[in-house]
This record gives sequence, C-alpha cells and structure tokens, in this order.
Amino acid sequence: MARRVIYAEHGGPEVLTLVEAEIPEPGPGRVRVRVQAAGLNPVDWKTFRGGGMYGATLPSGVGNDFAGVVDALGAGVTGFEPGDAVYGGARHQAEADYLVIDAEKLLHRPAGLSLEQAAGLDIVGRTAIASVRAIEVVPGDVVLVSAAAGGVGGLASQLAIRAGATVVGTASAANHDYLRSLGVIPVAYGDDLVERLRDAAPGPFTAALDNHGRHSIDSALALGIEPRRVNTIADRSVVAEYGISDVGGGAASIHDLPELAQLIASGEIQFPIDSTYPLEQVREAYEHLMAGHLRGKVVLTLG
Ligand SMILES: NC(=O)c1ccc[n+]([C@@H]2O[C@H](COP(=O)([O-])OP(=O)(O)OC[C@H]3O[C@@H](n4cnc5c(N)ncnc54)[C@H](OP(=O)(O)O)[C@@H]3O)[C@@H](O)[C@H]2O)c1
Repeated sequence: MARRVIYAEHGGPEVLTLVEAEIPEPGPGRVRVRVQAAGLNPVDWKTFRGGGMYGATLPSGVGNDFAGVVDALGAGVTGFEPGDAVYGGARHQAEADYLVIDAEKLLHRPAGLSLEQAAGLDIVGRTAIASVRAIEVVPGDVVLVSAAAGGVGGLASQLAIRAGATVVGTASAANHDYLRSLGVIPVAYGDDLVERLRDAAPGPFTAALDNHGRHSIDSALALGIEPRRVNTIADRSVVAEYGISDVGGGAASIHDLPELAQLIASGEIQFPIDSTYPLEQVREAYEHLMAGHLRGKVVLTLG
C-alpha cells in the first residue's frame, strides 16, 4: 500500500489526514511517478479551507507540485524510462507516494536542479514567467515587486532583472539581505510605503508585479505606474475597476519551465528552499506556510 494526504471536510491544516491508498495503474499515454518530494503553495490551503475548489471534490487529495522518479509506463509512452528523475504539477494529487500523470505533462529533472527545487517549481515558475511576460519588461524599466522574497516574487524579480529592469522589492527586514543577493533593492512593506519606495528607487517606477494584494496594488498606482503595466496574482477583486491585469500561472505551460529550471540548475537564478518536512508532518508544514513569512519554498519529503 501507499500513502496519500486527503481531506474530507473543509478547514485548516487539522483536516489533513494521511491515509493508505492503492497504487494507481497508468493507462495509455500516462506515467506512474513515485513521488519523492512535494512543494506547497498557498492555493493548496485556499482550496482545503474551502475558498474556491479549483476542480476538487470531497474527499480530495492535496498539492500540485512534485518531483520523483518514473515508476511505470502506460501503453504508448515514449521519452521516459523507469527510474528517470522527473518533476511537474498534478493538481490535488502531489502529496502521495504515487501519482499518475499524462506523459506530455511530465518533465525531466536536469542535473543541478535539486529534488526539492524541482518539487517546488511548477506553480511559482509558471506564474513568475507569465506575470513578467504580462508587463512586457524592457531594459531601463523600474519594477515594483511585492512579496519579493516569496516563491513567485523571488523568481519574478530575477526574471525582470534578467530582462533589463531595476527591481525594487517589498519584504520584511529579515529578507532584505536575501533580496540584495538577488540584485533587488529591498523596501519594508507597511506604513508610508509609497514614500519609501520613491526614496529607494533610482528613478520613476514604470511597472509593477503584485504578489501580495490590495496594498501593493494601490501603492503601485499611487506611484504613477500606468494600470496596464500593473499585474496582480493576489487580488482579482480590483482588476476591472483599476484596469490592471491579472495574468497568473495558467498563462504559461509546463513547457515554459525547462529554460527556468536550467537557469536555476546553473546557479544563474536563485531558488531557495525555505524548509522541508516529512510527509507525516504535513499539517505543521502548512501551518508554517500559512504564517506567511517565507524565503522560497516549503517542501514535503516522502522518502
Ligand atoms: N494567480 C496565480 O496564478 C497565482 C499563482 C501562484 C501564487 N498566487 C498567489 O500569490 C501569492 C504569493 O504566492 P507565493 O507562492 O509567492 O507565496 P509565498 O511563497 O508564501 O510568499 C509569501 C510572501 O509574502 C510576503 N509578505 C507577507 N506579508 C506581506 C505584506 N504585508 N506585504 C508584502 N509582502 C508580504 C512574505 O515576505 P516576508 O517573509 O518578507 O514577510 C513572503 O515571502 C499568494 O496569494 C498566492 O495564492 C497566485
């Protein structure tokens, strides 16, 4: 038997339960993966809390991002062999010893990309790529990135810098040295943010990537950034009213990830692991994620 995290009613991390599960069989075109690590995302807890089900039905599995090894192939699968190191995203399935996924949604893990990094890449990687594309960064841009030390913010900041922008990022003081190490000018969020952002920036802001919500969006507009160059992934409620965009991970595909994975593997982009927890401590892992002050990814290890 294998293990799987499920929840049968909505609530906090206390609803998450580790249960025994059948080992799934891969049908035609599908691959069974033995999951070795699974990355956590805020959308997981927003889903098990009941805030929007993203296609889940009760009882539901948990988690999207995973990395592991190919365990068995369904009929007609080419390009993978048992034992290959792989990663990807499988909504509501990742926190389990085994999952089954379409071969075309699976990626080979490159040398140099750690198991934990691969296990945390799908959602934040696609989201960072898509949101940076949405604001069409050009050299010379000065870009505000909120929650710049988080999973999406850290990657989006570095992608914007690689496209020629200067990035000013908000984070708590504990993350300021980390942001400097990414090449980001750090500013603490909180009172008088607009004034402090203006003081920190080398010139007028021209675009913004919001990864936290309303306060950052209002600050971006107060800085005089054109609404069409403000993108939020964290608060859709004001998108129509303000004329900003809300391009998220759904606008990028898994096939956008290998280039980013290679940059991480080669050390050109930093992608830190905030912490790891064994699968048995899934509740504690989500409590840590939900406390909201991370530097990179929280990852479950399945052994
Ligand atoms: N639409 C989409 O496709 C999509 C995809 C992925 C994520 N999201 C959403 O985007 C948000 C960020 O996701 P994530 O995975 O990057 O989260 P994360 O890794 O949990 O990062 C959260 C970050 O928020 C920062 N933070 C906490 N309080 C803050 C405040 N008052 N102002 C500014 N920053 C603050 C923390 O920085 P400090 O430690 O420095 O405080 C932390 O680094 C979540 O709401 C998530 O649901 C949307």
